[in-house]
Amino acid sequence: MQTIHHVNELRTLLTRVRQTGKRIAVVPTMGNLHRGHIRLVETAAAHADFVVSTIFVNPMQFGRHEDLDKYPRTPDADVRKLTDAGCHCLFAPPVSEIYPEGLGQHTVVSVPGLSERHCGASRPGHFDGVATVVSKLFNIVGPDIAVFGKKDYQQFQVIRKMTSDLCFGIDIMGVETERDSQGLALSSRNGYLSESEKLTALCLSRTLNEAAQRITDGERNYRVLEQQALQSFTAHGVTPDYFNICQADSLAPATGADLRLVILAAGFVGATRLIDNIEITLPE
Ligand code: PAF
Repeated sequence: MQTIHHVNELRTLLTRVRQTGKRIAVVPTMGNLHRGHIRLVETAAAHADFVVSTIFVNPMQFGRHEDLDKYPRTPDADVRKLTDAGCHCLFAPPVSEIYPEGLGQHTVVSVPGLSERHCGASRPGHFDGVATVVSKLFNIVGPDIAVFGKKDYQQFQVIRKMTSDLCFGIDIMGVETERDSQGLALSSRNGYLSESEKLTALCLSRTLNEAAQRITDGERNYRVLEQQALQSFTAHGVTPDYFNICQADSLAPATGADLRLVILAAGFVGATRLIDNIEITLPE
């Protein structure tokens, strides 16, 4: 696997790759790779001939008081894992390559509506940062397909809409969430958790599964279910951010008439903010 740090060098390489008729996939990440990321790379390799993974801890998507500085960076381990997963090229630019003139006056890509609820309400500007950097990576790589994890379900929908609205002509693939043996969704931020906090964090997936089961069993009073779930978070030591039962594509509040749902949840375990979700398809 080749590691490239500069845009021009990557463009030169990918021009040659494209001339040989190969399909190119991109897997954007912020590094500190775990089994979930590796599954994205494997999915990309199954659908394309040449896989580019990117590692860039994007300052534009972090709020002023968030964890940009302490976000885990493990470049050597990441290179080993990507090589083993069959990745062909790693693009790992420095911040100065992506934002040569800083962030202040940079063009911002903003996806209205979808970006404003849920995580967008708790982390203002976050999805503008994501949409901007992903647009840049799409323009730099020029991939046929791009692969994202559905653990970040709202991000996945924001990127799908952006790709469609801006006519990128890239197939966006979503990959199911990887979990540990107890059900905790894999996340780089799990590394911040102590052993006892990891047990507390299981409350997210457990509460999501319980709510999904009640909906499957016929419960349609979604606003009551949401309130009960938030109370359950508090009772089990999770400081709730939100627990929202939504339409699967628009992420607007679901009604009893909707058949494709997703429940999006976020909460704090100690100082660590975790997110998780579950998709539900109801019979006609
Ligand atoms: O999901 C992530 O790791 C990031 O939000 C992404 C998509 C790589 C953009 O920085």
